[in-house]
Order: sequence, then structure tokens, then C-alpha cells
Amino acid sequence: MAHTLSRKIAVFGAGYIGLVTGACLAELGHDVVVRDIQPERISLLQSGQIPIYEPGLGDLIIKNKERLTFTLNADEAVARAEIVYVCVDTPPTSAGDADLSRVWSVLHSLEGAAHLAAVVVKSTVPVGTGARARALLDDLGLHGVGYASNPEFTAEGRAVSDFLSPDRVVIGASDAETASLVEELHRGVDGEVVVMDIPSAEMAKMASNALLATKISFINEIASICEATGADVGNVARAVGLDHRLGPHFLQAGIGWGGSCFPKDSEALKQLASNTGYHPQLLSAVIEVNNLQKRRAISKVKDLLGTLEGATVALLGLTFKPGTDDMREATSAVLAARLLAEGAAVRCWDPLARPEAVEPWASTTRCESVLEAMTGADAAILVTDWPQLREVPWEEARGLMRRPVLYDGRNLLDPAAMRDLGFRYLSVGRP
Ligand SMILES: NC(=O)c1ccc[n+]([C@@H]2O[C@H](COP(=O)([O-])OP(=O)(O)OC[C@H]3O[C@@H](n4cnc5c(N)ncnc54)[C@H](O)[C@@H]3O)[C@@H](O)[C@H]2O)c1
Repeated sequence: MAHTLSRKIAVFGAGYIGLVTGACLAELGHDVVVRDIQPERISLLQSGQIPIYEPGLGDLIIKNKERLTFTLNADEAVARAEIVYVCVDTPPTSAGDADLSRVWSVLHSLEGAAHLAAVVVKSTVPVGTGARARALLDDLGLHGVGYASNPEFTAEGRAVSDFLSPDRVVIGASDAETASLVEELHRGVDGEVVVMDIPSAEMAKMASNALLATKISFINEIASICEATGADVGNVARAVGLDHRLGPHFLQAGIGWGGSCFPKDSEALKQLASNTGYHPQLLSAVIEVNNLQKRRAISKVKDLLGTLEGATVALLGLTFKPGTDDMREATSAVLAARLLAEGAAVRCWDPLARPEAVEPWASTTRCESVLEAMTGADAAILVTDWPQLREVPWEEARGLMRRPVLYDGRNLLDPAAMRDLGFRYLSVGRP
């Protein structure tokens, strides 16, 4: 890929975003070291193995191994770097705000690194973080080190192509020199670069995720009204999405959104607004509709079965969406916990996810195939629209069940065909 100047970059955080950022910056010709605090993660990477599943990432890391190294040692990473990228996790605190402790920890580890040209934060952080980060860098004597916000808009499952061909690259910087430095790093990336002030860059990320979540909650609310009135949300979404002012994306009704970003980022934006004294009514409703959507699935299955006490329910797909192994805030965890609380036994299948032996998963039965999961089940809930689920021999699956209740939480299957096979088939917002 074309680039003008190869920079030395230290990326802090070897998770989904840090690894993709590191590998893609190396692909763009930069010399990159990725630092993490998890020894097992760094050992795996040093031995050529990839600790997460992300399409294309492994190949990119191998292809650029001359320019991409991994370390546990922060001082070593910073000593040879011109630019530090912060890609650490920002999970929710118990109050729902973003926990920035890992970001502060990275900045503290830069003490004495006055040789750096810039610190760039890619982690999703609340508006105002840049000002606090600047003050901390100044306290550490790093007055001459530039600061930029360069939020990541990528979607897991296509993060590498999103990085190299993004809809846009947003750079928030307090001075033109830092903005051009970060822009220069992206030479070779096929996407528009938008430079702005730091608070706006931070807000652009939060607003994007909030609007995507809003679209999904909106169509899910329409789906509930469709159910009550006899309309088909699939037809409605198609007609709505053909309006060029609205567009077809994120209008797929389903069982509710989850994942490592939407839940925590929408909650963090809600808390950020609340902390300023503003009550974010729309955002609060978006979150509430989503929470209800997951519970509605359980209520519908319970209505069909009479009771969940003593029933066996199969969960088909556990990750928050197909194409990833990420289980963070997955809808499946809410369903499993609700089912267990109602006294049901839970059997689950997923082609990639290997949930840790923590609750609710410690109390569920893992199955190697869809058919195994459905054996003896009173109901099955299709949670993640993995393409494999289109290929299931559904007639055989129905024959293995104790009662043929199927809740299609992603509207993946054809209602008439499933009913012809003898299923008591329910889906979202379809007659
Ligand atoms: N995952 C996504 O799809 C996505 C998309 C856009 C933005 N983001 C944002 O990017 C950030 C990172 O997300 P992620 O999904 O990569 O998280 P992750 O949990 O997969 O990775 C974070 C990594 O940072 C490491 N870490 C923690 N403290 C560290 C330190 N002091 N030094 C070095 N490494 C440290 C952790 O060990 C972990 O490996 C978050 O703020 C997230 O909101 C994520």
C-alpha cells in the first residue's frame, strides 16, 4: 500500500481494535509494536497465533510480521515509538459510565516520554476525555506531545476491511500539526478523512453508535406493533428502507441488540447526558425497548409452553452477531439467565463461541451441533443468524424435540415452510 513516511507506532491493547489497528498500520507501511498486559495473549501473538477471531486478521499479521511485533513491556514499546495509540477497553462502571482507568493507566506509563510526537486515543471514550487527558499529559511534563482522538467505527467481523476502506476517518485534534500527523498515518486508506475538534470527534463516535442502536430499537418497536395489527415487519422495513432519505441499513427486526459496543456506549452516552443534568428521553427509550425485546422472546415461548419450569430450551447461536467469537453483552446471556431463573434447563450451540464457565453458562449444556442442542428440547430459540442455521435439516430437528416450539429471533427462516414441517413457529413482527 502507498505511504509517504513510515512512522514508529506503539499500540496499547491487543484486543479486537488494537490488533486490527496494529496490523493495518503495519500494512500501511508503519513500524508497529503492540503492547498488552495479558502475558498469555502476548505469548500467543509472539508464537504466530491469533487470540481472537476476526476475518483476515491472521493473514495480515503474518504478511506484515517484519513490521509488527508484540510485547508486554510498556517502556520498551514507548522508547522506540514516535506515536502511541490507545486501544484499551473502556467497559462500563457499575454506575454505567465508561471506565477510563485503563486509558489513564496507559497515559501514566508515558511519563518521561517527551520524545513522543503524539498520543492518539482510539478507545471509545466520553466527551471531555480529551481535555482530561491533555491535563494529565501536561502534569506528566509532556506539554510538547500532541493529543488526538481517532475513534474507531469498525464492525467486528469485517474490522480489517473497515479499517482499510472506512466510510470515514475521524480525527479530533487540538492543533493542526497533530491532526496532519494522524492524517498522514492513514495515507493509503481508502476513505474520507474528517478533521475536527476533540469533543466533536468523541461525540461523533457516541452519536453514531446511538443512532445505529436507535434504528434497531425503532424497527423492533414497529415489529411489536405489526404483531398486534397483522402487518409484516419484513415488508414494512423493505418499503421504508427504499426511501433514499432513510436507507435500508439497521432495519432488521430481531431479538434485540447486544455486543461489546452498543449496550455500553448507549448507556455511557445516557449517563454522560444525565451527568450534565439533561434527561436523554429518546436514548432511554431506545435502551428500554431493547431490554424489553429480549424479555418478550422469553414471554412468548413461556406462553406457548404454559410454564418454563422443568422445560428444556435450546439456544441456537450465542455470539452477539455472526462472524465473531465475541460474547460480550450478547443477547444469548440475557435469555439464558432468564430461562434458568424460570426453572428451565438450557442447551446451547454456537459454531465459534466458547463461553467461559461463568454464570449463566456454567449452568447450561454445551452442544456440538444444532441437532444435539434440539434433542429433547421443548422449545428452541434462534438467537444469532449464523448462515449455518439456514442449512439445518429442520424436519429431522423437529423430530428430535419433545415439543416443536421454535422462536426465530432473527426472522431467518420462512414461516410457512417451518409451519408445514410441523413447528409451532414464532418470529419477530411477522404474522
Ligand atoms: N470491538 C469493537 O467492535 C469496537 C469498535 C469500535 C470501538 N471499540 C472500542 O475500542 C476499545 C477497545 O475495544 P476492544 O473490543 O478491542 O477491547 P478488548 O477487550 O478486546 O481489548 C482491550 C485490550 O486492552 C488490553 N489492556 C488493558 N489495559 C492495558 C494497558 N494498560 N496496556 C496495554 N493493554 C491493555 C486488554 O488486556 C485487552 O487485551 C474500547 O473502548 C471499545 O469501546 C471497539
